[in-house]
Amino acid sequence: MTQDLGRPDGAPAFPRHPVRGRFNAAFFWVLDAYINATLRRHKRRVLADLPETVVEIGPGVGANLRYIDRGAAVIAIEPNRYMHPQLIARADRLGVHLELLESSAEQTGLPDNSADAVISSLVLCSVGDPATALAEIRRILRPGGTFRFLEHVAAADGTPTRIVQRILRRPWGWVFEGCSCERNLEALIRAAGFSEVDIESYRIHSPFLPFNTHIAGVVQA
Ligand SMILES: C[S@@+](CC[C@H](N)C(=O)[O-])C[C@H]1O[C@@H](n2cnc3c(N)ncnc32)[C@H](O)[C@@H]1O
Repeated sequence: MTQDLGRPDGAPAFPRHPVRGRFNAAFFWVLDAYINATLRRHKRRVLADLPETVVEIGPGVGANLRYIDRGAAVIAIEPNRYMHPQLIARADRLGVHLELLESSAEQTGLPDNSADAVISSLVLCSVGDPATALAEIRRILRPGGTFRFLEHVAAADGTPTRIVQRILRRPWGWVFEGCSCERNLEALIRAAGFSEVDIESYRIHSPFLPFNTHIAGVVQA
């Protein structure tokens, strides 16, 4: 049911750290139910009525597979190999056809206009170049196709959350492999040339304070 297609020719290697890579895979596996409970309402909204095949950018250990119908297909762009075993096992358990590509959001290796929907959660905070990733998502979406996303973002300037995001930026980015809590992803998505932009901002109440300011939305290519 799963096809591991490896890394396409020319795709840059994901920096692989044996300890942090494994830590992040374990972290998102252990906290999966908690994070899902926190985001469930928003995920149900933006991940509703998905087509038979979707592209998922940075699926990690498969947090969004529960929103995919049994028998449907996911083309997974996941450069971090330490996430792959749980992702594959979960897709098999849930009866989701998985095509796993070890490429990146910036260079998926997928053809132009080939996707009806692209989904991602908590990923644009971590990709090296989010503007290039958004251009790549637009490139692979067919006209009218949708990009559905949930992301954590920078809090409003001057707020206590924003101050904590700034203070913790280095250790946070080190532990979570390049993750930044300081990105204004709503502005980047609005500037990326999509139409029908529908973005909701909200706050969650987790103990991970820098992570608590979020957006979720659907935009059209
Ligand atoms: C915080 S985890 C989120 C995983 C999952 N989407 C979730 O909601 O639990 C970030 C994910 O983005 C992936 N990632 C980091 N840089 C990436 C890139 N350039 N392209 C695609 N995925 C990337 C990581 O490997 C990791 O799986």
